[in-house]
Amino acid sequence: MMGMERKNISISIVSGKGGVGKTNISLNLAYMLYNLAYKVIILDCDLGLANIDILLGITPKKNLKDIIQSDVDPEELIVNIERQDLDLIPAASGIPELLEYERDVYFLLVQKLNNVLKKYDFIILDLGAGISEGVTSFAASTSLKIILITPEPTSLTDSYAVIKILKTKYNQSNFLVVVNMVEGESQARQTFERLNVACKRFLGVELGYLGYIRENKDFAEAVSKQIPLAKLKPQSEGCKDLMAIAKNLVKVVDQLPSLKKGLDLID
Ligand SMILES: Nc1ncnc2c1ncn2[C@@H]1O[C@H](COP(=O)(O)OP(=O)(O)OP(=O)(O)O)[C@@H](O)[C@H]1O
Ligand SMILES: [Mg+2]
Repeated sequence: MMGMERKNISISIVSGKGGVGKTNISLNLAYMLYNLAYKVIILDCDLGLANIDILLGITPKKNLKDIIQSDVDPEELIVNIERQDLDLIPAASGIPELLEYERDVYFLLVQKLNNVLKKYDFIILDLGAGISEGVTSFAASTSLKIILITPEPTSLTDSYAVIKILKTKYNQSNFLVVVNMVEGESQARQTFERLNVACKRFLGVELGYLGYIRENKDFAEAVSKQIPLAKLKPQSEGCKDLMAIAKNLVKVVDQLPSLKKGLDLID
């Protein structure tokens, strides 16, 4: 629909710890929001090991590097995943010079992207693991941060470290937690509470609970077939869990009308 005002809400998927499911959840959560009739774009911001394209089985010709290194219009990078309403901007995999955070480069990148991103309701950022400035500055630029955790103790400590940086260095709030690879709701709630208690006590931050995703072999199958779970098995447990998360997310967004829009890098 032409001229329709879009929500323009950006959401980063962060974890601290690697391998907890950020890329799989970014892609499939984007699908769920698309299934709810929103216009969605995924920004693959894992400049180390880009892999949304791998999960989709595609080989994009251009990626984020082309915006940074040449005058390519960001529009040219957009890959249509589903008709006009689910899009991707691929990252540059293994480009060492981009791994190092460079303030001016990031500001230029965000400035160029925001024009394009206006056209979407949701902008999902799949970030790399770790707490480098490249990761945390991108996370701080988004309207909402989804902290993806698993019941593993190292996942909790690493997530706490990320939240601490986002709070103390960038003065961020609006943290929403998704608990991945759980047996069910009660384990998810317990895991969430453990992190929330620590964040309240030591950082004065209250986390929001968004939902959980059960441990499930379907994800591995989707990865090996290079077909998003949302397409391969739309009726699976994993997709039901993700749809519940997507609906909660929309509720949260509608309750927070003053959220910042697009990407907003903070010095
Ligand atoms: N709910 C789940 N149940 C079972 N396996 C899962 C689940 N979620 C993700 N996985 C599996 O975990 C592995 C890591 O997932 P993914 O690559 O999405 O993690 P990541 O956080 O993006 O990793 P990285 O930090 O390297 O970017 C994949 O093999 C994926 O299939
Ligand atoms: Mg990943």
